[in-house]
Amino acid sequence: MKAAVYYETGGPEVFRYEDVPDPEVGPDQVLIRVEAISVEGGDTLNRLGGAMTAAPHIVGYQCAGTVLSVGEGVRAIKPGDRVVTVGVDGSHAERRVVGASFCWTVPTGVTTEQAACVPVPFGTADDALFEFGRLQPGETVLVHAGASGVGIAAIQLAHRAGARVLATASSTARLDRLHELGLDHGIDYSTVDFADEVRRLTEGKGADVIVDSVGGSTLQKSLQCLAYRGRCITFGDAGRELPSRLDISTMRANNQTLVGYFLGAELFLGSRAHAVIARHLDDIADGQLRVVIDRRLPLAEAAEAHAYIESRQAFGRVLLIP
Ligand SMILES: NC(=O)c1ccc[n+]([C@@H]2O[C@H](COP(=O)([O-])OP(=O)(O)OC[C@H]3O[C@@H](n4cnc5c(N)ncnc54)[C@H](OP(=O)(O)O)[C@@H]3O)[C@@H](O)[C@H]2O)c1
Repeated sequence: MKAAVYYETGGPEVFRYEDVPDPEVGPDQVLIRVEAISVEGGDTLNRLGGAMTAAPHIVGYQCAGTVLSVGEGVRAIKPGDRVVTVGVDGSHAERRVVGASFCWTVPTGVTTEQAACVPVPFGTADDALFEFGRLQPGETVLVHAGASGVGIAAIQLAHRAGARVLATASSTARLDRLHELGLDHGIDYSTVDFADEVRRLTEGKGADVIVDSVGGSTLQKSLQCLAYRGRCITFGDAGRELPSRLDISTMRANNQTLVGYFLGAELFLGSRAHAVIARHLDDIADGQLRVVIDRRLPLAEAAEAHAYIESRQAFGRVLLIP
C-alpha cells in the first residue's frame, strides 16, 4: 500500500510518499480501506518530535473507511461496514489495522469524511467539559483555540448545554466564524490579554471551566482567570512551548481544580467514552452537531496539509484522501 511516512521527526518536509507492506489483521482487530484521514493536532506534534514506533513511521490517530476483513473474535463489525477508527499511529495510509474496540460504525446520514473528524475532537471536548469539567448550565466556559478541531467541538457542546461560551483564537476573522456554532464572546489573543478580557467579561469572577489545549504560558494564564471553584482541564501543548514549571500557588485560596486529561486512557480503560462518541455520531446524523471541514488534499500531499495547519490558517479539519 501507499503511505505518507517519515524516517525522522521534524518539519512537514520529512514526509515521503512510499510503498510499505500492507498491515495484517489479527485477533480482535479490524482491517479497513482508508477513505478519509483527519489530520489531528496531535499528528502535527508527533511528526514534529513525537515517538516513532518504526522506521519508516506512519503517523496519525484518526481515519475512516470501509472494513475489508475482521480478525478472530470480532462480532459487532463485518466486512463492508463503514467505520471510523482511532489508534496511536497508522492513519496516514491506504490501509489500517486497529482493535475493534477503537472503531465506531458510521450511522446513515453521516458521510465517511464527516465521521473521520469525530471521535478524538468530540470525545475530548465532551469529557473535558462535562466528565472532568462538570460544566453546568449558566456557567461560563473559556475554550482555548476555538477554531481548532477540539475547539469547534467544545463550543457546540458547551452552547448546547446552556453555558456561556468564550473562546480565544489568533485572529478576529477566525472568531467571527465561530458565532454560528454557539460562541458568545470571541477573544483575539493577538491583540488583547485573554486573562484580562475573561475577567472583564465576567465582572472579575473568571471562567468556571477552562478547556486548555495550548499549554505552556497560556495554561499559566488560564489559572489567572479561573473563577472561585473553577475547573481548568489541560490536555494539549498546541502552543509548542518547552515544558516549564507551573505556578499553582493561587489555586488553593480559590478552591480551584486543575485536571490533566487523555482520551486514550478513557478509551483503553472502559466503555463510557466509546458510548459518548457513538452519541456524537448520531447527533451529527440528526444535524444537532456539525463537523467543519476546511479542505481536502491527496494523501501524497501530507506535507502540504501539515504545513497549512501549522500556518494557523485552518478552520476546522484538513482531510487527506488516499
Ligand atoms: N489529551 C488528549 O486526549 C487530546 C485529545 C485531542 C487533542 N489533544 C491535543 O490538543 C491540542 C489541539 O488539538 P486539535 O486537534 O484541536 O488541534 P488543531 O485542530 O490542529 O488546532 C490547534 C490550534 O492551536 C492553536 N495554536 C496555538 N498556538 C499554536 C502554535 N504555536 N502552533 C500551532 N497552533 C497553535 C491554533 O489556533 P490559533 O491560531 O487560533 O491560536 C490552532 O487552531 C493538540 O496539542 C493535541 O495534541 C489532546
